[in-house]
Amino acid sequence: MKRRSLILGGIAGALGLGWLLRPGQRGADHAPYFQDLSVALDQAGLAKPSLLVDRNHLVENIQTLMGHINGRFNYRIVAKSLPSLPLLETVMQVSGSNRLMLFHQPFINQVAERFPQADVLLGKPMPVAAARNFYRQFSGGVFDPASQLRWLLDTPERVAQYDELATALDQPMQICIELDVGLHRGGVRNDEQLVTMLEMIEASPKLQFCGFMGYEPHIVKLPIGDAIDYRDRAMAVYQYYIDVAKGVLGERWPKNVLLNAGGSPTYQMYDRGEYPFNELAAGSCLVKPSDFDLPTLADHVAASYIATPVLKSLDTLEIPGIDLGKVQSLWDPNRARTFFTYGGYWKARPESPDGLANNSLFGRSTNQEMLNGSRKINLQPDDWVFLRPTQSEFVFLQFGDIAVYEEGAIVARWPVFSEQTSA
Ligand SMILES: Cc1ncc(COP(=O)(O)O)c(C=O)c1O
Repeated sequence: MKRRSLILGGIAGALGLGWLLRPGQRGADHAPYFQDLSVALDQAGLAKPSLLVDRNHLVENIQTLMGHINGRFNYRIVAKSLPSLPLLETVMQVSGSNRLMLFHQPFINQVAERFPQADVLLGKPMPVAAARNFYRQFSGGVFDPASQLRWLLDTPERVAQYDELATALDQPMQICIELDVGLHRGGVRNDEQLVTMLEMIEASPKLQFCGFMGYEPHIVKLPIGDAIDYRDRAMAVYQYYIDVAKGVLGERWPKNVLLNAGGSPTYQMYDRGEYPFNELAAGSCLVKPSDFDLPTLADHVAASYIATPVLKSLDTLEIPGIDLGKVQSLWDPNRARTFFTYGGYWKARPESPDGLANNSLFGRSTNQEMLNGSRKINLQPDDWVFLRPTQSEFVFLQFGDIAVYEEGAIVARWPVFSEQTSA
């Protein structure tokens, strides 16, 4: 054989092999669940990007959570991950808990007004000016901040600031101390810091020590090592600080001490055994955004979606300029079709129809997002596309009222937390 034919044969062979390595065709039209959601959205007259919560799935998740906790600990609802008053109300009713963890000053005011029976713990230390704004905006009523609101403080400096504020406002304040039990996101890191803070709180006529918060999501997220080991190490640190504080306070150790730990990724790590805390916090697992698709949450179900209308449906893929769209779709059958959606670029990933993908060559858009799919996907303009939020705390706030889905219909609209503009 001549050398030239050998080379040509080689090239043809490589091309043939390359062709065989093309991605396989995926994709399908909406499964019945998403068809039902689509019908419900149409019947409710919705026609813009919407955040949807499946009420039955939400209730199922609350029951799953309460089944694991099984009365061994109190349950505190992480409100930032469920940022809507009626959503929180549902969780409070089904779980029987009035304990909320909050992370944002305007939301504390809204909760104090709407849930006068709530017990509120801050999930992060707030600038003292934010605390001042809370009291300034608090309109009074049944909620008693002196007994129902627990500020989270992390350093002696912050204790001094809150002491000054409490004195200036003549306002008694409950103080919870943040512990670093291994996450290294702040909080008390040594005995000296803890003892100083406790002594300052003891010396203050207005501040009262009410307990600890030690958050430990790292125990299930570290790439190397064993989660049980990390859990036990975190709990040993937690216990150590309890012992230090009991040494300082003696008889004055609070009768109803609050010892908070946990979060969605870790709460199932405490199904069995003895632990130093008496309260577990969790929120995200009740709506289960995709970042919470974790082995420790395998028995929770997705309960929230973004639904958005398809604006345009094309039987091709075209990219402006040197049109690499044809090459892309020739290579990958999952890029045969193009859909543009109403809005996009959320912290979310396409869920249904199965097989949709963003196109990094075309780019992302918050206005009209391009999605590609195979010829097995027959979306038409005005059909719905469903995405799963990767997280709830910020994403839920971007769509106005939540559309609440239950058994084939949108049964309610739940307003989300709003930012208050007054200082
Ligand atoms: C202090 C604290 N506790 C608990 C949680 C757990 O929240 P979730 O259950 O929504 O993950 C968080 C989340 O950031 C947190 O910061």
